[in-house]
Amino acid sequence: MIRLDRWLSTLGVGSRSQVQKLIRAGEVTVDGGRVTDPGTLCGESAVLAVAGETLDSRLRRHIMLHKPAGLLTAARDRKQPTVMDLLPPCFVPLGCMPVGRLDKDTTGLLVLTTDGELAHRLLSPGRHVDKVYLATVDGPLGAREQEMFARGLNLGDFSAQPADLAIISSSAAQATARVTVHEGKFHQVKRMFEAVNRQVTVLHREKFGPLMLDPQLKEGTWRDLTEEEIRSLRQAAGMGDATDD
Ligand code: URA
Repeated sequence: MIRLDRWLSTLGVGSRSQVQKLIRAGEVTVDGGRVTDPGTLCGESAVLAVAGETLDSRLRRHIMLHKPAGLLTAARDRKQPTVMDLLPPCFVPLGCMPVGRLDKDTTGLLVLTTDGELAHRLLSPGRHVDKVYLATVDGPLGAREQEMFARGLNLGDFSAQPADLAIISSSAAQATARVTVHEGKFHQVKRMFEAVNRQVTVLHREKFGPLMLDPQLKEGTWRDLTEEEIRSLRQAAGMGDATDD
């Protein structure tokens, strides 16, 4: 159960005192009935409406975003635009957070969730949630680089675990490959290529754990995860197969 005024302010309808005023003024209905006590306790499946307009009142959100280049992966930043700018403003008070990060110039699949435990578990170093990237680099790739990736690479401050490098095309000037890593250290893919003397020029994440980037999702757009996707993500996080919705 959740207090009506807290729920409405968490959804971004207004500050706690603003929503209390709205409720007292009779502007709010719960399951179709007018409620004037801001402290009314509601079940999470209640249908809320303000001034006759039904709200999307979900408190738990799990979403897939097709991240474009040029945005920071952060909940907020004082100077630069972040991925949160692509989402409805209520996602911030809901506490919807990116699960891990993609560099500013990296595109592709980013999962965001209000479930802090799920995010924490998916990112925990022992969990080894696979991530698949499509990378373009500034020189040829061949058996030598594949072997180096497969052995694991010493990156100075940490040793990258063995990773799979599937070469899609390679010429003297440029190559494209699909890279599967089992961990998620800072700038990991770029640093692994640097360790074999290649610079990444384009990086795109296609897969995060069990989730593939939805091909229907245009760059800069997002959608809710399906029940099945949430279940698979929770399973990957070792949280059983029950959804929390
Ligand atoms: N590895 C990188 O180097 N950058 C990313 O954005 C993701 C993985």
